[in-house]
Parts: sequence; C-alpha cells; structure tokens
Amino acid sequence: MAKGGKKSRSPSKKPKQNGGGVDETAKKTTVSSSKPLTNGTTHSDSGAEENLKVAVRVRSFNKRELDMNAKPIIEMSAGQTVIRNPAEPAEDGKKFAFDYSYWSFDGGKQRSDGFWEPDLAQPNGKKYCDQNKVFEDLGKGMLGNAWEGYNSTLFAYGQTGSGKSYSVVGYGPNKGIVPMFCEQLFAEIDTKKGGDTAYEVTFSMLEIYNEIVRDLLNPNSDKKKGLRIRQHPKKGFWPEQLAVVPVDSYQAISNKMDQGATTRTIAATNMNATSSRAHTIVCITFIQKSKNSAGQELAKSSVVNLVDLAGSERVSSTGATGDRLKEGAAINQSLSALGNVISALADQSNGKKVKVPYRDSVLTQLLMNALGGNSKTIMIAAISPADINYEESLSTLRYADRAKQIKTRAIINEDPTEKMIRELQDENARLKKMVQGGGGSIEDHEDYKKELEENEREMEEMRKSFEEKLLLAQAESAASGVKTSAEVAKQRAKYPHLYNLNIDPQLNAMVVHIIKSGKYRIGNAKGSKSDIVLSGPSMLEQHAIIVSAKDHLAVTLEKATEQARVLVNGKPITGQMQLRHNDRILFGTSQLYVYANPLEQKKNPTAKYPTVTYEMAQGEIAEASGFKISQGGELAQSDRAAQEKLIQVMPAVEDANSISEKLDKMMKFEAILVSPQLFGKPDSEWEVLIRVRNFANGLQYNWTTEKFMERYAQMRGLYEDVEDGDIKLSDVTADKDPFVEPTKDPTLIGVASAYLKSLAYFMPMKTQTAIKDLSGQDAGVLNISLTNCDAAGNTLDENSSAAWVDSTKALIGKDLYFRFLISRAYGIPARFTDIYCAFNFKFGDEKEKRSIKTKKVSGTSNPVFEHNETLCFKNIDAATLSVIENGRILVELWGVQVPTSRDDRDNRDTRAMLAADAMNKGVLPQMMNSSDSKSSFEVDVLRQRQAKIEAKLQYMREICTVGEARGMDTVPLSYIKGILDAPGVDTLDKWAKMFEYKGIHDGRPASANRINKSTTCVIS
Ligand SMILES: Nc1ncnc2c1ncn2[C@@H]1O[C@H](COP(=O)(O)OP(=O)(O)OP(=O)(O)O)[C@@H](O)[C@H]1O
Ligand SMILES: [Mg+2]
Repeated sequence: MAKGGKKSRSPSKKPKQNGGGVDETAKKTTVSSSKPLTNGTTHSDSGAEENLKVAVRVRSFNKRELDMNAKPIIEMSAGQTVIRNPAEPAEDGKKFAFDYSYWSFDGGKQRSDGFWEPDLAQPNGKKYCDQNKVFEDLGKGMLGNAWEGYNSTLFAYGQTGSGKSYSVVGYGPNKGIVPMFCEQLFAEIDTKKGGDTAYEVTFSMLEIYNEIVRDLLNPNSDKKKGLRIRQHPKKGFWPEQLAVVPVDSYQAISNKMDQGATTRTIAATNMNATSSRAHTIVCITFIQKSKNSAGQELAKSSVVNLVDLAGSERVSSTGATGDRLKEGAAINQSLSALGNVISALADQSNGKKVKVPYRDSVLTQLLMNALGGNSKTIMIAAISPADINYEESLSTLRYADRAKQIKTRAIINEDPTEKMIRELQDENARLKKMVQGGGGSIEDHEDYKKELEENEREMEEMRKSFEEKLLLAQAESAASGVKTSAEVAKQRAKYPHLYNLNIDPQLNAMVVHIIKSGKYRIGNAKGSKSDIVLSGPSMLEQHAIIVSAKDHLAVTLEKATEQARVLVNGKPITGQMQLRHNDRILFGTSQLYVYANPLEQKKNPTAKYPTVTYEMAQGEIAEASGFKISQGGELAQSDRAAQEKLIQVMPAVEDANSISEKLDKMMKFEAILVSPQLFGKPDSEWEVLIRVRNFANGLQYNWTTEKFMERYAQMRGLYEDVEDGDIKLSDVTADKDPFVEPTKDPTLIGVASAYLKSLAYFMPMKTQTAIKDLSGQDAGVLNISLTNCDAAGNTLDENSSAAWVDSTKALIGKDLYFRFLISRAYGIPARFTDIYCAFNFKFGDEKEKRSIKTKKVSGTSNPVFEHNETLCFKNIDAATLSVIENGRILVELWGVQVPTSRDDRDNRDTRAMLAADAMNKGVLPQMMNSSDSKSSFEVDVLRQRQAKIEAKLQYMREICTVGEARGMDTVPLSYIKGILDAPGVDTLDKWAKMFEYKGIHDGRPASANRINKSTTCVIS
C-alpha cells in the first residue's frame, strides 16, 4: 500500500516558482489563458464585488421516503425556507432566506413525454418549479455572463440522492442546466454567425475521486495517479493535460458528455459502490474573437464551470474513529476542504483576516477562482423534503447560509490575442532563465521544464485556428470508434444486449454491450481473448460465455470456469441457461448488468416486466444469500434502513473477499445485522457491521461500515498496485496493510444486561446473564447481583422496615440506592485476555452519572472481577421510574485478542478456507433477541413478589382462624392494614402475635400508628 498514501497529492509539493505561492487572501487572480478551470484575462476593470448566489431546491419524496412513510418538514414561501425538527413538532421551524427557493416537492405532473411540469389543478401547482424555471433563473444568467465575457460557476451541494445531478445534468426529458446551457449557447451562436465575430467553444469534463483527478474524455490517462494539478502564479491551479475538446454544436457536446459518463461508469463499477463520492466538473469555455477599430484581434473569453459535487453526508459519529489508515483514504477530503474554504471566505467577507485553505484539496484548488476570485458563482443547495433526512437537510441549509456571504469579483475577460501570446512568451523567457540559472532544487527544475513545455504547447494551440483544431478533434473522435448515444440507442432497439446498473442512477445504462449472433467470451482485461472485458478482483481471465443464435432469440449464458461467480436474478448459475429479457446478471462481485432483448419483448407484447433498479437487483442477491429482504409491503422503518445499508455494503464485502482470496490474505468479511436493543437503543435503527475474521490467527473484529468502506478502498488500491507490479505484497508493512488490525487494542467481546426491575420491589437479585456478541451469539455468561441499600451502602433486606413495596409509585420523589456487583464471567472465548467490564450509569441526576470500568483479568476464560459499585437514582421522577421498571444496565465486556496459530488450516490457502467456511456456515448469525433474558429477570421478580403476597395472605388467614376460634365477628381495621403494609416478615410476626394476645382486649396495639407511617418504603 506504499503508494496508496501518495495518491493524494501532498499540497506541499506544489511548484513554488512564485516564492510563497499565490496570495490566498487575494480576492482577484489574473490569468491569461484559454485553459479551463482558470481565470480569464486581465482587464483594467477590477469588477464589482458581488455575493455568491444561493438557490435551494426541494425535490419530491423518493421511493424510499414513501416506503418509510416519511413526513414533509420543509416549507417554502416568499423566498423563505423553513425546516422543522421532527423531534420537536411544537417548535417553530428554522428559517433561511436565499436568493432563489425552488419548490419541486408537490404540485407537478408528468407529461406524456416524461417531462415534469406544474399542474395548476393542484393546490401547489403555481409553486412548483420545473427544470425550465431553474434554467430561466440560473442558466440564462450564466449564458448572459458568458456572452459578456464573465466567468461563471455553478455548483450543487447536498446529500446523496437530494437532487444535485437532477438540477445540474438532469434525467432524460428533464434536462438540467448543463445541456440546456449548451443547447442555448449554440442556438444563439447560430443566429449570430456570419458576422465579424468568430465563436469558439471548448468542452472538458473531469472527475475527482479520492483526490485523484480523472480526465473523463480521456479514459486512457493515468488512471491511478490521475492528472497532475499545476499551479501558476497568475493562472491559479489547473489539471495538466486535461483534454480540452473543441466543439461546434450541441450534439457534439452531448456526445462528449455521454462519453464522459461512460468513463465514469466504468471507473465507478471498478471502484464498487462508492461512485457517488466523486465530484464531476464540466467546463465550457466560450471565446468571441473580433477585431477592434485598430485592426487588433480581441478575444473575449468566459470559462463556465458546472460542478456536481459528491453526496455531502457526514461520516456518522459512531463511525471510524481514529482509524490509522483513514488519512490515506481521503475519500471526502475535497468535501471537507470545501467546507473550510467556504467558512474562511465567509469570515473574510465579514471583515476577518483569515487564510483561505484552498490548497487542502484538489477540489478547492480547482474551484479557487469560482469561490474567491474572478467568477460569478451560484450554489444550488439540494435537499430532501423528508423528516428522516432532517439532520442532513439542516446541515445543507446551514452550509448554504454560510456560502451566501461569500463575495467574488468577476471581470470581463477581454484581451488582444497578441497580448496573451506575448505574456506566455515572457513567462517562458523567465522560466528558461531559471532553468539555465541552475538555482533551486531538482524538483523545482523539473517543474520549470514541465511548465515550459506546457506553455509552448499552449502557444502552439493558440496559433492554430479553431477550425483546424475542430477538424483534428473530429478526426480523432471518428478514429476512436466510440459510438454516439444515438448510434447505441439504434443498436439497443435491434439486438439483445447487456446494460449496466449502478448505485448512482445517473450512471445506469451508460455501458452497453451489444450481442449480435455468435459466441461472446467475457473475462478480465488480462484475458486477451475476451470479447467483453469486465475488470475487478472477482473477475477471472475467462469468466463466462454468452452464445446468441442467429434469430437473436435464443441467448444462453454459462460459466467459463467452475470458480467463476455468475448470478442470475440473485442465484448462482450452474449449467448453461437461457437468458430472458430483463434478467439481472452479476459477474463476479461488482459487474451488475441487465439482459435486454427487444426481439423477445416484441414477441410477447403483453408480458409484464418489473422495473429494474440497482436496489432491486442487489436486494434479490442479498435475499438469495440468506438475508431476509422484503420488497415493499409493511416493513418497520428501522428494518428498511438496515436493508438499504446492507444492499449498499454487500457488493463491497463480496469484493473484499475476492481481494483477500487473490492476495491470499486469510481474511473473511461478513456483513452482520446488529439489533439496536443490543445497545439499549430500541428506538434506533439496526446497525450493519462488518465482521472481520482472520483464518491465520483466529482473531475477529467488528468494523463499522464506514471503516470497512475506507479499508476497502485501500484494499482496491493495494490490489491494483500488486496486479500492475508497482509494489510487491511482501514489501507492504503491517502498518500500511489495510487488512491488518492492530492487536493491542481491546475489542468488544459482547454485552450482558442487568435488568433493574427487582430494585423497584426491594428484592435482591442474584443472577447469571448471557453475554451476547454483536451477531447475537453467546460469548459466555456473567454473574451479577443487584441489591437495594441505604446511602451508606448497608443492605436493605426483606426485613428492613423500608423494604416492601406494593406500588412502585411510592418511589416517586425518593432516592433509591443499590449495590451492583459484577462477580465473574465464565466461558469467554479463549482468544481474549486482559478482560474487563465497562458500563455507564447515566440516569437522572447529573451528579450520579458515571462511566465505570472493572479491573482487567488476564490469562483465563473465567475471569473473576468481584466489582462492587454503589449507585443511586436520585429524586426519582416518572421517567426514571420507568427506567427502573423496564430498563437495564448494559455491561460491555472488552478484551485484547491474542493471535494463535491455527493448526486446523492444513496449509490451505484463502480460497480453500473461504470455501470451507461457507460450507460450515449453516444459519446466518442470529439477531440478538434481548427479550429472552429480560423475561427471566421478570419471572424472578414476579416469583419473589408472589412469595411476599402469599406470606401476607397466610398471616391474614391465621388472624381469621384465631378470631373465629374466639368467636369474633370483626377484626379491627388496624390489624388488617398493619399486615398489608408490613415491610417484612418480622413486622408481620409482630402483628400476628399482637392480635393473638392483645387484639381482642384493646383492639389496637400501641405502636400501630408509628409502624403505619414507616411503611412508606423508601429509604433516606
Ligand atoms: N426535482 C426533482 N424532481 C423529481 N425527481 C427528482 C428531483 N430531484 C431529484 N430527483 C430524483 O431523485 C433521484 C436522485 O437524484 P440525483 O441523482 O439528482 O441525486 P444526487 O444529489 O445527484 O445524488 P448523488 O450524491 O448520489 O449523486 C433521481 O432519481 C432523480 O430523478
Ligand atoms: Mg449525482
């Protein structure tokens, strides 16, 4: 993994030719280049400062939200957006004001062509904003700016699935800003063409994933290191050698966008399930060339950046805390850096002098001008309307609120072309001098040389005419054999084909494999004979074979090798099988395709086919592998959320096992569902954890999904580096190995429950309770006892005057002290040592809240703790009483795992161990059912209570017998009350004796009043 860490470019490695780097507090940067993502040219006009414009858009409920019966919490009126906290319905919502608020929640209807438009028949019809409205406000303004020679940037921010891509790029007939902008730009150019002005448009498209910049129009650019980000004292940052393609029509841009999306899809599929963590930037430059009265050529240029950011969700706080390899992953580095830059810029606008940390990520470097420099900038904050996304939506609104304070200063970029060339020449002369002068480090020299070359290249580009460049690009494109989307669509209507499914709906069907007649071999890139190349650790050189008959109706699929993993509709295939229209096929662990056959469909026009989605296809795979996944219907909210998490993580888990197998890492990964009850949080969601087992040393860990996904990204990196021969596996040290977990840290063995109910009845409880591990399996037993006591710690037993309660309500307003004894555990798995228990007592009074740990016990599976703790529920209220009656203390058992060499391995490799484990697996881990152990506590409490009640009845009976024997008709009330209220056997005895000897004579014992008072049970 040595390289993994290096992948993210260290900001300190930037060229330093300008001495101290750019002045990052400067509001204006001047540039002279047609390069994308950078500034326009200098101009005497310093530009007016203006605020970044912010638009907020709320979409309609998605399927998930509808299934979960979500409630809307967003309101918009008169430019104000209000968000309500579902946990505090009585509270006023939080209010935000932005430049534009777009209501796309309800009030719309879908036209027959699929376009969503306002439906004036609905109450909110007038309010509904469709794509046209958003373009009218935002896109048109950007278009106007482009014509005037201003740079502009639009970026969309929001959690995954909130509608960023919908606004920026759009779906099908609901075109977003990018296509509409391009369409209109060319429409306007067409009307103006033919005059003295020449128009030049270029297009480029890149993606930032894990701090690596990938040129989406040049899939062959170094996919591992990505494009280098270069910095120029004047020009700012730009990705070196990014393909900047001249275009002459909307169709040409549209084709390029499809090509870019296909590159993204292939990369995302290979990256597995993490695609929505990538940022996509589309860059359009628009140059208008004309001659001024002196005959000098002027170029008015505008750079337009359209940025579709990755989903903004924060890693959950229970997530990968302090993982040592986290830094290397840097998956969301760009997004958090963007947050910091926005904050710093907002502070700056408020007059604070702060440094803006543009250098902290690739994204912020590339957006430097968009955010703090020469650009008119718009942010779209996309939010979900649903209560279940409250936290994320609120965080997005706050982010946007901060962003709107940012000020930029855009200028009209208009300069003589000659001047731009002259500037480049001057710059090159300066660089040459530096190279010849011999000062600076070797690294600096390399940088100067690179920059020189780049400048030369750029000058040459400038000298070429646009027509020349256009012809060249068109010829290249034709030679590349890349089909346009129109050509692909035509073939899809004619032939059977496979199209891909991706977790990001934007990337669905971006990769299409047409199947004409004959044999198609499917395998990884190493299999030179493959007709369809699919890569990834789980793909074999020869993986599967598809044979299509001449009539294109009989199309069969079979595995090429026994070990190949091929699932159809969730189930593994065995022999050759005939494919049916709409079948879902998974090759390996991550190549998910749908088989479609238009001819079969035509033959059976009445056949009904379900809509295939990524979630549906992953759901059936998870279900077939044993997880009960329910499709639709009544499903508890928490179950559904867990189901979704599982679907997201399962492909990566499978893939991690493939990597483990390929690298012979002796590790197995499994997703497990952990009941919220296990953590004492019955109202929250099921947790998905990844159980990690090491066959070589018997150790076992539970990783959060976040930690797993980070490690998984590194495993992919390691696998690719090893595959490409960049590093040797044996050179990877344990601290850089994503498969290795440090052994000295304690891990959770399991949890045991101590129910508190007995305390409410002053009954001592001594019991043995099960220790359940996270997958709900037994990991030993724990002996504990709970005993009521007084403030000094003295036991209040049955005979204490205070120790008898019939109604627990009597506890309200009192203090309840008790001793909690953790005596010992039995049967802890042998791999643990340094075992200790930890629990939190976090009820009621602040002063009484505590986190407690017992001592550590080593070298035994049956550790003795004998830990005694006096605890107190102070000033009990109704809520605390309910905790005592129904709650429990969760005792966690922790221990350090000791690696043992496993002799049952018999020299088997990872593949054999995984196969053997799958055979032994049997049933899936049980989910923890805490009610079993709870009921045993209940029974104990009931039994004790019953014994007390029976004792009282017995005394009553005795009184009756004695009374009858003496011929009495009545018994004084005081005796009955005395017995009913008696706190213990001693008191009962006293009353019985008194009745026997005195009751008949004086009717009431002298001490009755006093005893009655003391029967209020609570101590202190
Ligand atoms: N305004 C809207 N009207 C109707 N449907 C919408 C709207 N916004 C989003 N959607 C739908 O919601 C789904 C998710 O939207 P989208 O892909 O734009 O999310 P995203 O924010 O780009 O997510 P990610 O971060 O995963 O890329 C899509 O199916 C899209 O069609
Ligand atoms: Mg998106």
